[in-house]
Amino acid sequence: MNPLSLTVVVVLLAVGYAQLNILHPECDSPEAEEAALAAQDYLNAQHSHGYKYALNRIEDIKIVTQPDGDNAYVVEVDLLETDCHVLDPTPVANCTVRPKVLTAVEGDCDVVLKRVGGKLTVKAFKCKTEESTEDLCVGCPILLPLNHTTALEFVRASLATFNNFTVNTTYALLEVGRMSTQIVSGGPRYFAEYVVAEANCTNDVCAPLTDGIVTRGICSAKGVSAAHTVNCKTFPVMPPLQDANSTAVPSWSPAFHAHTVGLSRKHGLRHHKLTSHHDPHVTGLLSVSSESDEVVPVVALNGTAAPVASTLAADTSSASVELPVGMVKRDVSGSADTTVPNVVATEPVLLIPRCPGRVRFF
Ligand SMILES: *[C@@H]1O[C@H](CO)[C@@H](O)[C@H](O)[C@H]1NC(C)=O
Ligand SMILES: *[C@@H]1O[C@H](CO)[C@@H](O)[C@H](O)[C@H]1NC(C)=O
Ligand SMILES: *[C@@H]1O[C@H](CO)[C@@H](O)[C@H](O)[C@H]1NC(C)=O
Ligand SMILES: *[C@@H]1O[C@H](CO)[C@@H](O)[C@H](O)[C@H]1NC(C)=O
Ligand SMILES: *[C@@H]1O[C@H](CO)[C@@H](O)[C@H](O)[C@H]1NC(C)=O
Ligand SMILES: *[C@@H]1O[C@H](CO)[C@@H](O)[C@H](O)[C@H]1NC(C)=O
Ligand SMILES: *[C@@H]1O[C@H](CO)[C@@H](O)[C@H](O)[C@H]1NC(C)=O
Repeated sequence: MNPLSLTVVVVLLAVGYAQLNILHPECDSPEAEEAALAAQDYLNAQHSHGYKYALNRIEDIKIVTQPDGDNAYVVEVDLLETDCHVLDPTPVANCTVRPKVLTAVEGDCDVVLKRVGGKLTVKAFKCKTEESTEDLCVGCPILLPLNHTTALEFVRASLATFNNFTVNTTYALLEVGRMSTQIVSGGPRYFAEYVVAEANCTNDVCAPLTDGIVTRGICSAKGVSAAHTVNCKTFPVMPPLQDANSTAVPSWSPAFHAHTVGLSRKHGLRHHKLTSHHDPHVTGLLSVSSESDEVVPVVALNGTAAPVASTLAADTSSASVELPVGMVKRDVSGSADTTVPNVVATEPVLLIPRCPGRVRFF
């Protein structure tokens, strides 16, 4: 590289960094990957409904040195829904990402992390979840809203079949994760995935067992109400932590009908979304998108939740860091009187795309 241009680049970059205090590591660098995987695991631990998400691609990363000298990692990740329910103990690395023909669900998240005791810890995040299907897929299964009447009847019928085969144990429906239908000759076929809990039932009224370790199951069923197959994988789960003194069980309804699905606010949705916004530390590093309908209040936030609407300063600065590099190229070739034109322009280092990183699935 031409020594002059090298100096110019170094000086400009140094000036840029000094002014902006922002580093832009490569998206496939080990530190980007560390931050992205910490973000993935944190986001998966955030929800008690729906499925685990796996990292598909690191879209961008920057490390912002804050006035207090702390480094904040701001990483943008693309995640894909797997077929492992969040209650499923299978590690996410062993879960299968749902392919587009089965209607993949994609999560796009901006996550702020800081190093606490050597470990990257999530301080805030913002996520958007959407479906992604194969463009031309005739006969592919179609996701159904989670309150779809016929599909829920199918879920109940298949659970009754499962309960008919269990010995001394009755399972009650806890959550419907996914329902889809496929039109085949002879009419629609249904596919359903749902979570069940071991329950104590008398006359159709079931109370989930709460004493010590209880058994839950993740079921998948296919067919129609009158003829289907159902498979349930059962595993023991500790019930949610509760006050030893309190008689009420906070997150479990004390009694519910086995034939009533607790759909809560998920009416009409076709999949469980990632929690969309969470900034308890009010980092100000995440801009609040205009899609305010996506913002789900996080119960655990305890009042400090009100997200601060401040646009990400780093967004504009990333442009201004990259711009001088481009200008250097132009300046050198433009100053036609210098003896070595085009040297910088052919320098491959400047042309390697830093981000996004590699695609892991699709
Ligand atoms: C996950 O996959 C690894 C490697 O394929 C395997 O060794 C391990 O037993 C699997 N774990 C589970 C819980 O399936
Ligand atoms: C329950 O299982 C028995 C045989 O094990 C079968 O005859 C009966 O039809 C089943 N009932 C339902 C509701 O599936
Ligand atoms: C089911 O319950 C009956 C009566 O309580 C008991 O005799 C039997 O051993 C139990 N079967 C199993 C598989 O637990
Ligand atoms: C099941 O419910 C009945 C009545 O509600 C209660 O007497 C019994 O102790 C319960 N059994 C278990 C295992 O919780
Ligand atoms: C629970 O009960 C113990 C004594 O039984 C008491 O010391 C403790 O403060 C109670 N905790 C709460 C949260 O009420
Ligand atoms: C499902 O929920 C949506 C949105 O709340 C509602 O418009 C629709 O009527 C519901 N469908 C059924 C079958 O309950
Ligand atoms: C929120 O937490 C703080 C301590 O972190 C506590 O003082 C305050 O009472 C809590 N507020 C609510 C509404 O729970």
